Formats: sequence, C-alpha cells, structure tokens
Amino acid sequence: MIHNSTIDNQINHRSIRKFKDQKLNAEQLETLYTVFQHTATSMFMQNATLLHITDEAKRAKIRELCNQQYVGAEGDLFIFVVDLYRNQQIRQQLGKDDGRVHMSDLFMQGMDDTLLAWQNVANAVESMGLGYVPLGTINDHPLAMLDVLDLPQLTFPALGMQVGVPDQEPQLKPRLPLQFTTFENDYPRDFQVSDLADYDQLVTTYYDLRDSNRRIDSFTKQISGAKLDSHKIDRDQLPELLHQQGLCLDWQ
Ligand SMILES: Cc1cc2nc3c(=O)[nH]c(=O)nc-3n(C[C@H](O)[C@H](O)[C@H](O)COP(=O)(O)O)c2cc1C
Repeated sequence: MIHNSTIDNQINHRSIRKFKDQKLNAEQLETLYTVFQHTATSMFMQNATLLHITDEAKRAKIRELCNQQYVGAEGDLFIFVVDLYRNQQIRQQLGKDDGRVHMSDLFMQGMDDTLLAWQNVANAVESMGLGYVPLGTINDHPLAMLDVLDLPQLTFPALGMQVGVPDQEPQLKPRLPLQFTTFENDYPRDFQVSDLADYDQLVTTYYDLRDSNRRIDSFTKQISGAKLDSHKIDRDQLPELLHQQGLCLDWQ
C-alpha cells in the first residue's frame, strides 16, 4: 500500500484522553478553523458551525453532562453543530418562507457537512502532532446540553472534540479485518460470528487506558453485551430534541 504523511497519520490514529496543560495557540486555532471552512459541503449550503468552548463555567457544565473527566479539562473543547438556522435567516431576511429547512433530508445534509468537517479537523489535528478524542457523550443528556450551549432553533450539536498535546501513548486499537467491512458490488449476507474468532482474540490484547487501565472484552462480547442491550437512557430524547429544534418535522 501507499505511504505518505497523510495516510500514515490516518492509519496510526488513536484517541487521546490525557492532554498536557496547554492550549492551542492562535496560529493552530486559525489553521483548524480554515480546514473546517474548506471542507466539502452538500449542495454548497454550508450547514455546519464550529463552537470553541473557552468559558470555564460552560466547560465545567459540559464535563459534568458528559461525565468524562477529560472533557473541557486540559486542551481545547470544540462542539461541531449542524446549522440550518443561518440559512433560514438568509431566507427570512430575503422575504422567503422556510421552504425545506425543517425536512429530514436537510438535517441529514447538515449532518454530512458537520461530520465531514469534524473529520477534516481531526486529521489536521493529528498532522500537527496534536491529539483528540471524539465526544459523543455531548448527547448523553441532549436536552440539558442544549440548555448549556444555548443554541438557536434549527441547530443540533452533533459531535464534540477535545484537542490538545498528548500526554499518553495508547495502543493502536485493532479494527475489523477488511474482509468483513469492504465488498465489491454486492453485499454478502453470509456473515458468521464464528469467523470473528481471531479478531476477538486480537481485541482482547488491547490495553485500555480510558478509565479502567485493563484489557478489554472481545468485540463480539462487547456487541452482544451492555452496549446494545435494551435499556432506557437520556439519549432516547434525541427525536424529541430534534423536533423541539424544528428539525426533521416530517419524521414521526
Ligand atoms: C462518534 C464517536 C463518538 C465517540 N465518543 C466518545 C466519547 O464520548 N468519549 C470517549 O472517550 N471516546 C469517544 N469516542 C472514541 C471511541 O471510543 C474510539 O474511537 C474507539 O474506541 C476506537 O479507538 P481509537 O479512536 O483509539 O482507535 C467516540 C468515537 C466516535 C467515532
């Protein structure tokens, strides 16, 4: 396969959850903003917004809701927001109605824009010798988070990112072999869990620095266990939150 600095950074990715007590400087910040700005955007609608959370009180509240000590602690905290508010404002101020902005497909396009920008920024972070952890936990208590972020209608905080100078060297986390995830033309339906035995073995050799400092369960054990077992959580509020935000109103 081909190696260059971009590809080598991508295939050596690992999430960083311990950072040195150092903030991004102005040049680094400008670079990340500019990478964000130049990401491809569905139908040239530019439906993404980036929030840099520097207010200590806000960072503390976000950390509490995420229930992860590294959120808004050392380094810099970003929230990537699906944003249809700006384009609604453009239409309203030009005398037009909201048109399609409340439809699910517009939300999906906003998600596309926002997550592409997220990954572009993530790659830039690693290329600068910095590290990051994605923060899906920003939606563990979505209604409460919306209050903390004080976001307008037609916006949705899709994913967070804590960025900084790495203060740990985690192992590379083994991924599913390509034979299970990449296909040509047709999707084979003959998947057998027993075919994952070798991969399961490999996963149990991964040493988790996250909060337990121990080896992790096999992949199939994780998937057949608590992660996906039926249980009620505040993330179940997400459809309600989207509707409250005026998003996906065609989706019952
Ligand atoms: C959408 C998304 C949300 C995530 N949310 C969190 C999170 O809230 N906290 C965290 O510590 N890691 C989070 N992660 C990181 C994953 O746990 C991590 O990517 C995965 O275990 C693979 O490890 P690696 O990134 O080191 O290769 C998230 C990853 C993704 C893609």
